[in-house]
Amino acid sequence: MPTLMVTGGCGFIGSNFIRLILANQPGLAVVNLDKLTYAGNPENLAEIADDSRYIFCQGDIADRSLVDSLLVEHRIEAIVNFAAESHVDRSLLDSSPFVQTNIVGTQVLIDAARAASVRRFVQVSTDEVYGSLGSTGAFTESTPLAPNSPYSASKAAADLLVRAAVHSHGFPGVITRCSNNYGRFQFPEKLIPLFISNALDHQPLPVYGTGENVRDWIHVDDHCRGIAAALRDGDVGEVYNFGGNAEMSNIDLTRKLLGLLDRPESLIRFVPDRPGHDQRYAIDCSKAESELGWSPEIGFGEGLSVTVAWYLANTDWVERIRSGEYREFYKQQYGERLGDG
Ligand code: NAD
Ligand code: TYD
Repeated sequence: MPTLMVTGGCGFIGSNFIRLILANQPGLAVVNLDKLTYAGNPENLAEIADDSRYIFCQGDIADRSLVDSLLVEHRIEAIVNFAAESHVDRSLLDSSPFVQTNIVGTQVLIDAARAASVRRFVQVSTDEVYGSLGSTGAFTESTPLAPNSPYSASKAAADLLVRAAVHSHGFPGVITRCSNNYGRFQFPEKLIPLFISNALDHQPLPVYGTGENVRDWIHVDDHCRGIAAALRDGDVGEVYNFGGNAEMSNIDLTRKLLGLLDRPESLIRFVPDRPGHDQRYAIDCSKAESELGWSPEIGFGEGLSVTVAWYLANTDWVERIRSGEYREFYKQQYGERLGDG
């Protein structure tokens, strides 16, 4: 059976992608290579763990001999690389795992994929590689790269390594760049699940700066459909932007979440800003619309309500995460900020 390797499949987007692929493509098997860092959670895939078309391997994308042997053993036809350190705030505290996984790990995957003559490689990237926008305009695929955080710089580096492999070696790489995702199984360090979980616990919601920073929100299912379309129909060497056409300031979003959860606005705490905080992201996804026949289908209002309902129904999942390593990070990241707030 044709087999796809998904890396980082126990994380937020990767786990949603694997579920989508197994449901929609009955003729395809999936090998999930995941290191199980703090963000990797096999529980995210509990419902498909026994599917005969699903194979899990715990390991590091930077481990060349492991990747080589998996590609040969499972005769992998294509790779979708989700594996990454993904949180901007953590990259500001310690950038080394970002450099190691996002840059070195991606190059190891490229080298191994070339050696095994893999037919397609999709690099899952982010709009943050383009830097920050003022109050108008939107990122297109030809916007110059201008990353501002160690996270986004490491993702931009990985994109350039894919680009270089395409240019130099005819490597079958495709790059996707998406705006901020939300939805089920998102680790509660990111804005939406963090604020839902804190509000449910009657804890303060730490809004950075004045809360006027703007993000373009996309439901994870729309992003996953886009990646599947890029895998199927994307042209080698091309970049495809995905966005949700749903720009909102952080403070408006915070108020919306509090309304949905029936919690008071007195929970809002303005805390010292994130260093180098990008002001605004907005995505022009007309290329994906015209060339991949893709467009976002889930409106932000609908998607947010469904997501809030999922977190309400899955408080055990959140609590298991919040009682582990996460406590230390939370203290380091928010201890003083909330004390000052
Ligand atoms: P996540 O942090 O939830 O998951 C990352 C996964 O990668 C985890 O399962 C982790 O265990 C695994 N991993 C980390 N290092 C690894 C390594 N060295 N080898 C193997 N596995 C490793 O991240 P996410 O939010 O699901 O993001 C997935 C990808 O999508 C990332 O590449 C990210 O840059 C990109 N992206 C995310 C967003 C977003 O809004 N979350 C938007 C655009 C692009
Ligand atoms: P985040 O979910 O970390 O995604 P990204 O930094 O990749 O956009 O943050 C989304 C926005 O929310 C961003 O402008 C930073 C802001 N934010 C807060 O105001 N408070 C928080 O505690 C967090 C985690 C984020």
